[in-house]
Amino acid sequence: MNKDDIKYVLFSEGEIAQIVERLAERINADYGGEEIIVGVVLKGSLTFSADLIRKLDMPIRLDFIQASSYGSGSKSSGKVKIKKDLENDIKDKHLLLVEDIIDSGNTLAGLKAMLKDREPASVKICALLSKPSRRETEIEAEYIGAEIPDEFVVGYGLDYDEKYRNLPYIGVLQPRVYGGGE
Ligand code: PRP
Repeated sequence: MNKDDIKYVLFSEGEIAQIVERLAERINADYGGEEIIVGVVLKGSLTFSADLIRKLDMPIRLDFIQASSYGSGSKSSGKVKIKKDLENDIKDKHLLLVEDIIDSGNTLAGLKAMLKDREPASVKICALLSKPSRRETEIEAEYIGAEIPDEFVVGYGLDYDEKYRNLPYIGVLQPRVYGGGE
């Protein structure tokens, strides 16, 4: 991993901590101490969820789900399938899906529709980042940490080709790394 691969830091560690704190305050206020299942959408949300759950004050059950797009190529085809499912039965439970980023919206829209069939008491979404300009599918997310422009962001769990997830900050990738123009 080369430090020169990062064009600039979009959110520093301190800024991320503030965003997470604000999200947790809102979530704590909304659920009023009721138990929730936190459904971490793997893998990018690992770091975010690790920080977020430590700020939540209600009882939680931690669970994991992983989605993958149908079809080939890097461009999302608009349909998702569950690669790794939740372990909890969510019927009549409150589910909070935790995502690192909403891009096209296809992953969360697909997951939410499938999970709603299991008759949970509620399904809400908490995403650290959102790129509204990239949306293909409308998705209602109750908690968004920050809206960002259409730049390739990595770090704090987010990857490019499985790299950079371990950066402690969120940075914008140099276009030359992924073959884009300057
Ligand atoms: C990323 C991200 C979201 C999804 C967002 O996951 O973590 O799950 O893409 O894109 P969308 O809104 O266009 O559907 P990815 O499939 O890259 O897997 P990862 O979390 O393991 O990196």
